[in-house]
Amino acid sequence: MFVVAELSRDLQEFVANYSVDRRNTDSLKWDALQERYGDPTLLPMWVADMEFQTPVAVRQALTERVQQGVFGYSLTPDSYYEAFFQWQKERHGITLQKDWVRFDTGVVNSLYAMVKWLTDPGDEVVILQPVYYPFANAIKDNDRKVLSVDLLSGDKGWAIDFEALEKTFKHHTIKLLIFCSPHNPVGRIWTEAELVKVLALCRQYGVQLVSDEIHQDYEAELGQFKSVLTVADGTYQDDVIVLTAPSKTFNLAALLNSHVIIPDPDKRESYDAFIKTIHQTEGSLLGRVAAEAAYRHGGPWFDKLRGVIAYNYSVLKETLAEIPEVKVADLQGTYLAYVDLAPIVPADGLTDFVQKACGLAVDYGAWFSPKDKTYIRLNLATDPKYVATAADRLAEQLKFRKK
Ligand SMILES: Cc1ncc(COP(=O)(O)O)c(C=O)c1O
Repeated sequence: MFVVAELSRDLQEFVANYSVDRRNTDSLKWDALQERYGDPTLLPMWVADMEFQTPVAVRQALTERVQQGVFGYSLTPDSYYEAFFQWQKERHGITLQKDWVRFDTGVVNSLYAMVKWLTDPGDEVVILQPVYYPFANAIKDNDRKVLSVDLLSGDKGWAIDFEALEKTFKHHTIKLLIFCSPHNPVGRIWTEAELVKVLALCRQYGVQLVSDEIHQDYEAELGQFKSVLTVADGTYQDDVIVLTAPSKTFNLAALLNSHVIIPDPDKRESYDAFIKTIHQTEGSLLGRVAAEAAYRHGGPWFDKLRGVIAYNYSVLKETLAEIPEVKVADLQGTYLAYVDLAPIVPADGLTDFVQKACGLAVDYGAWFSPKDKTYIRLNLATDPKYVATAADRLAEQLKFRKK
């Protein structure tokens, strides 16, 4: 057993105060295990939400709004923009303007809208697999074709294959690149140099870049994340469309509130004309009430959460260090650990190994890329006791297999 530095006292307090048992709460993660994995007893380490209650201020704001008892059509108050913009400015140095922002009921919904808006049936759309699987679904479900420029994985971790990206842009007619930043599932925070290269290629070949920045706040080291809105001092601001939401940061996914940020006025006009043919959403009232309180008051809560995630990652990494063949990707951003179980577990035995031998429910690498058949993704935004259990079960079973 490896010894990991103790969880500090204030993080222990955070876990004690905010951790909840989500069984029997209609939680997808906990209560759909039978339906999704055929076994309700698995320990769920899949889907990207958490076992932590949102900050107290968020719950108070929601309670107060619910007490009003009227839920008619609503406006987004200026105070929302203030709180949202201040968070973006303080955390990431992004200066936003009110007229750039459109609302949606989720980033995945926006991905589907982006594909419909920016491409035509039969078009090829570029993504960098392995990547969050709704990217591919949004393309395929809209009768477009997925063209993956696969990320490279080597000793130095995951990287963009710029040569292949340029070749693809040169030899295919590509209108849209859907980009993930920070990148789920490989945990990369792209450097400014990498982002500039991607943006310059998109500009050169006339490819629209849509950047999904939903994980922007999860930085292992603060200040690492750069939005495509701000790289090269904002040189590419008018080129890009950015999708964000407070839902990953503050565990608000079911409140259905997300942002579409479009700085360029012509693109915005085109988007507005398009989106009204799909839905004329006013967004989610309670989602916005929660988000405003979270942006305004949730910083200290969030920084503790980041501490717990860092601790959980160290537990996983050190426990699996006993089996050096198994690779755990660097966690620069997101709260999702991408682990390659090859060469110990063969692709065709992965499900049995994870579910039957280890009793875990995970996201499988094959969901993110057809090539990643020996990978699993583990969610670390949870009570450390679950991460310790998952890591111990994996280590024990891997050692057993190795014998
Ligand atoms: C990269 C990425 N985009 C979008 C989402 C989901 O966004 P939403 O719940 O707003 O549809 C997730 C959830 O895990 C994600 O990882």
